[in-house]
Amino acid sequence: MFSNENKAYAADFLDRVEKKLKIMAPEIGANFPTSHVMTGEWDPHGKKANISGWTTAFWPGMMWLMYIKTGDEMFKKFAEGCEEKLDEAFDIFTGIHHDVGFMWSLSAVADYKLTGNEKSRARALHAATILAGRFNHKGKYIRAWDHSSLRWAIIDCMMNIPLLCWASKEMDDPRFIQIATTHADTVMNNFVRADGSVNHIVEFDPETGEMLATPRGQGYAPGSSWSRGQAWAIYGFVLAYLNIGKKEYLDTAKKVAHYFIANLEPGKLPLLDFRAPAEPVFYDSSAASITACGLIEIAKAVGEYEAPIYERAAMQLLHVLDENCNYKEDELRLLENASSAYHSPNGMHMPWIFGDYYLLEALMKLHGDDGRFTIHQ
Ligand code: GLY
Repeated sequence: MFSNENKAYAADFLDRVEKKLKIMAPEIGANFPTSHVMTGEWDPHGKKANISGWTTAFWPGMMWLMYIKTGDEMFKKFAEGCEEKLDEAFDIFTGIHHDVGFMWSLSAVADYKLTGNEKSRARALHAATILAGRFNHKGKYIRAWDHSSLRWAIIDCMMNIPLLCWASKEMDDPRFIQIATTHADTVMNNFVRADGSVNHIVEFDPETGEMLATPRGQGYAPGSSWSRGQAWAIYGFVLAYLNIGKKEYLDTAKKVAHYFIANLEPGKLPLLDFRAPAEPVFYDSSAASITACGLIEIAKAVGEYEAPIYERAAMQLLHVLDENCNYKEDELRLLENASSAYHSPNGMHMPWIFGDYYLLEALMKLHGDDGRFTIHQ
């Protein structure tokens, strides 16, 4: 699995990232680095971060990964500090949404699995219970944001499925994985198009589950192909396969991956939307790092004669990501050229912490980490 040459390249890349994070971590500490889509500001200390926002656990997740890599207690301390601060989001409650899987898998599940902290276990079970409460039984989908229509589900939510699978295994209670499976089936049958591209948003009749519309999301237009949405589908479906075991989920991840790979230009980042006008040109490095994680897991899951397709594509993305990293010692930013959404001009080509997180996760997978925050076998 993965050639020695590719593993050696990834090890060098990981060393560069580790060196940079050893500079960034003491400066940032137990905070929530984020960008701001309205102002275009990169806020490394998270001075204006929204504690209920979906990106809050990516920095503590990076700190846990660095703790696994180095054993340095500094990283553990910052991860634990962020996790404690996240309790405020539970207290506020009304800011919480479907993305509790991102928020508490990469903080509390990670902590519990690494240290056995019972308080972390309780936090993660609480988050899973909130997520299960968003399930619409007749519509057969997990409702997306509260600020949007109650009829909406979104492709990103595939990444929250692992938290439900973890909760079922942890409590020896099938309810959570039943919800995860029903939602994943709905997404597989309604979001993934015949050509392997995916919708960002699907609107359902909440009483019957009938698919009503595919509103525009963060891509160019309804019917276009927002690359981070494709990335969430690739990684989300392979994680669903690894946690639930349904072969159709692996086949779906492969189908979307083939579409994604066909849309890559050699030596370039993925476009922000694969089906948008040729000008202006917008890229999204975060779509590359999320997809690299998914491709590595697909390569591990398929047979030896198939794996090179996914290994090659993952390495192609990692090489471009390396070129887009900022290794300057006096700048508190790592991965450049991530983008928020096609119609958010101030959120373009800047650091977005989820891009950094999945880059580090991809490199850690090639370093031998088992992806334990979201793979529960
Ligand atoms: N989950 C929101 C995004 O990918 O931007």
